Amino acid sequence: MNRTRIKQTFAEYTNQYNASDPKIRLKIDHTYRVAALAERIAKTVTDISVDEDLAWTMGMLHDIGRFEQVKRYGTFVDSESIDHAELGITILFEDGLLTQFGDFTPEEQELLKVSIENHNKYKIPEGMSAEKTAYCNILRDADKIDIFRVNCDTPLEDIYNVSTAELKQAAVSDSVKKCFMEKHTVLRSLKHTPVDNLVGHVCLVFELVYPISVQIAKEQGYVDKLMRFASDNPDTNAWLSYMRKHLWNS
Ligand SMILES: [Fe+2]
Repeated sequence: MNRTRIKQTFAEYTNQYNASDPKIRLKIDHTYRVAALAERIAKTVTDISVDEDLAWTMGMLHDIGRFEQVKRYGTFVDSESIDHAELGITILFEDGLLTQFGDFTPEEQELLKVSIENHNKYKIPEGMSAEKTAYCNILRDADKIDIFRVNCDTPLEDIYNVSTAELKQAAVSDSVKKCFMEKHTVLRSLKHTPVDNLVGHVCLVFELVYPISVQIAKEQGYVDKLMRFASDNPDTNAWLSYMRKHLWNS
């Protein structure tokens, strides 16, 4: 794998889109970060042999569908537009963009395909080989870690599409609190208030597969910053303080 060629092809491809659009810029930055994170996680995997270059490449290609998605639909919300992972697969494998990034063996192509396709799914398919499962998990961990940063750097009002007053007054639903206490992620259907979304984002920590991923998420401090959200609702503040005490102890 030739990283220079991959970076150059990525730059050329994304240059066709409007980099002054903050949405495009965000995804370009996200791509480089996810690639670096995937490589860092891959280095710690010891139970099976993982190619760090391939892990980095997966990160570089995982959101390639985002650019066309935002151009066509003006949104990153898959449910309102298109599954951006599937769109990426079409662009890379059917339209042939992958060949411009390099010559990949059939095995590498299969690993790229399966990991990109599953990076945004609620769960990965059961019964996959240990190798495929590892690549999927590496990419999913890397993506989640950088989502914590994005959610911290973007005003919560913009992410959840609510006014500051609504956000500050919101309470956490009991069903969402239960998910946190049971240490798992929150299904979309359970989220009813703006702070439910915030708790839901914090709960992504429970889905991280590799110990290094939890360590990186903790080190980066973005999850802690999310939990320091200053609510005007006393119950919400008490709940956030409970979360800060319990999140990292397991
Ligand atoms: Fe994605």
